[in-house]
Formats: sequence, C-alpha cells, structure tokens
Amino acid sequence: MDSADPPEFRTEISLADAEATEDLAISLAPKLQAGDVLLIEGPIGAGKSHFCRSVIQNRLAALGRAEDVPSPTYTLVQVYDLEGLEIWHADLYRLTSPDDVFELGLNDAFDHAVCLVEWPDRLGAAAPEGALTLHLMPGLDPDSRTAILSAHNARWASVISGLAACGNGPT
Ligand SMILES: Nc1ncnc2c1ncn2[C@@H]1O[C@H](COP(=O)(O)OP(=O)(O)O)[C@@H](O)[C@H]1O
Ligand SMILES: [Mg+2]
Repeated sequence: MDSADPPEFRTEISLADAEATEDLAISLAPKLQAGDVLLIEGPIGAGKSHFCRSVIQNRLAALGRAEDVPSPTYTLVQVYDLEGLEIWHADLYRLTSPDDVFELGLNDAFDHAVCLVEWPDRLGAAAPEGALTLHLMPGLDPDSRTAILSAHNARWASVISGLAACGNGPT
C-alpha cells in the first residue's frame, strides 16, 4: 500500500475551543499503545502542541504524575518514560534532512513507543503507514478548529468510533 492511497477512514470533528481539543486528546490518550504513531498536521498556532501536551499530561496523571510538557521546538524530541511505555513528542519543524529522523532514533521509536509528531511532512518516506493523521484546521472563530482524522489502518477506525461512543465523537 502507498501512503498516497485514499485513507481507509476519514472523519471530521468540530472543536469549539482549546478545551474541546483537550477533550479529544483526553479521549484518545488512554487508548494509545506501543507502536502507535500520531502525525499531527496544521499551521503554526493550530494547537498541535496543545493537543500533544494534553495527551501526555493525561497519561502522566494516570500514574499520579504532574509535569511540565514543554514544546520540543529546539530539542526536536522530548521523551517521557511512563513505567514501561515511552511517549516521544517530536516537533520536526526545524528538521533539515529526513536522514535526521534516523539520527534522532525516531524510526526505532515508531515501533516501540507512542509517538506524537508535529510537522510530520518533514518525515518524507519515513512516515509510518500505520499512523493516525490528525490535521488541525483553524476555523472562522479564533478559537475554533476542525480536526480531520484519517488513517490507512483499520485499528484507528475502531479507536475513533470508540470515541463517538463516549460522547466526544465525530460530528
Ligand atoms: N480549539 C483550539 N485548539 C487548540 N488550541 C487552541 C484552540 N483555541 C485556541 N487555542 C490556543 O492556540 C494556541 C495553540 O498553540 P500551540 O499548541 O503551540 O500551536 P502549534 O503547536 O500548532 O503551533 C494555544 O495557545 C491554545 O490555547
Ligand atoms: Mg507546536
């Protein structure tokens, strides 16, 4: 299969404000497991880091931990160790070459960690085909966004339809 093929599923969710984006992250966070990759697209200020921070803080809170989750703008990657599971938060905006993906160890992390990747277009061919893509689009209102979720992988279709069942699902 080619990543240019049409996605196996695609759904849109309206997010009225930053809290709605956090709610989406909090619904998804408990379902994430080793080997899950989220490719988070959208322009500067769309809320990519806000979404990632909400996912990571939710998983930290589940272990009784409260920690700052800084944007990895300069470090490119921040790794969170959650008792046997790593969450990798990457911001690839400054990545100069797709070869750097290997240098950062991201290609290995895609297999063994939960990876949240901002600016995933920088990955080029290294983007995993089994990933969930979350595209955040600014809306008309300054705080509104549309989240477009898509994947080539049936697992994500079932995870996302599970979100609908908990009342925070696709509109
Ligand atoms: N619906 C929304 N979803 C996410 N963030 C929002 C929303 N509405 C307003 N914001 C604000 O927009 C900013 C997004 O910043 P950030 O997450 O760093 O963006 P990005 O990582 O996409 O560049 C945050 O200050 C956040 O509070
Ligand atoms: Mg960011």
